[in-house]
Amino acid sequence: MIDLRSDTVTSPSPEMREAIYTAKVGDHGYGDDKTTIELEAYCADLFGKESALLMTSGTMSDQIAIRCYTQPGDEIVLDRSYHINYFQAGPSTDLGKVLLNLCDAEGGILTPEDIEEAITGKYRGELFNRATLLCLENTINGYGGRIFPLENLKKIFTYAGMKGLPVHMDGERFLNACIATKISPREYAKYTDSISTSFSKGLGAPFGSILMGSRSLIQKAAKYRKWYGGALHQSGFMAAAAMYAIQNNVQRLEVDHRNARLLAVLLGAEDYFDIDLQVVETNMVMLSTKKLNLESSHFVDLCRNEGVLLYPWSQYTVRAVSHLDVSEKDIAVAAEKIIQVSKNILNGTIP
Ligand SMILES: Cc1ncc(COP(=O)(O)O)c(C=O)c1O
Repeated sequence: MIDLRSDTVTSPSPEMREAIYTAKVGDHGYGDDKTTIELEAYCADLFGKESALLMTSGTMSDQIAIRCYTQPGDEIVLDRSYHINYFQAGPSTDLGKVLLNLCDAEGGILTPEDIEEAITGKYRGELFNRATLLCLENTINGYGGRIFPLENLKKIFTYAGMKGLPVHMDGERFLNACIATKISPREYAKYTDSISTSFSKGLGAPFGSILMGSRSLIQKAAKYRKWYGGALHQSGFMAAAAMYAIQNNVQRLEVDHRNARLLAVLLGAEDYFDIDLQVVETNMVMLSTKKLNLESSHFVDLCRNEGVLLYPWSQYTVRAVSHLDVSEKDIAVAAEKIIQVSKNILNGTIP
């Protein structure tokens, strides 16, 4: 099987397993886990933030950030495509008790005008709920790994500051954006109040995300992490994998980006999937199944029968993601199989 469903499907390498096996651990309930302390300091420094906190998952990073910045009944402003809405609407409303004030920005790249409309589009008297947090995403999963450009981020951060809105960046794939743009994490993250990043997506660790921000935010986040059941004891096993990932697997993300582009070029040559090469900026490719007149889940089933796993993102959109467990050769084979399935659909060989 060639698994292109997500970059979360990777298996830890022997070197990463060795790092986990030999990790120095202590009970972090008492603040004793040196590997976790080391990882948090390393990440805070890399992203230029005062403090950092290891989380079990990206969802936990986002939900705890929301909890820290808001009161029940507050609004958070974000694009409809973002993970915090698309997959986390349940936890955001149930655990976070916030309302999602959704924008529909071109490519998910919000502008100050979008935010202005979101917060002033309806009358808000003294007693009405207000927006107290702006959430952004980089790279933007729902738009096939698109990059939130630094220039747009600067503008939106300045505007949000004027309105007193803190900016939380869901940066689970932020390092993909850094590698693709050659902008350092420290420079890019300067225009956020808090940022999360994942160790278990492109970086290949089995678990973990980190939330970074001011010392006071992270102190508050540590309390909620405990409340939410995410304060682990010997967390150094998780931190050791994360440290290995962030020290060894960042630069190689450019290989994943090249492989995604190769897939887009090979599939785009057939003109079946409406692929816009301009928007293939990191490690994802979105394919439309409209010309095949087939829903994405059916197409995904047919590709699985041929040995290629894809993800049905929406009714007529399929997502393919490159990662460290697929090679250039795998990509070429996957493209060939996807094209063959499509040809069979169009010539009626497969119903
Ligand atoms: C942009 C983004 N944010 C958050 C998450 C949630 O991460 P996790 O699956 O670790 O909870 C994901 C997962 O794919 C994601 O793509």
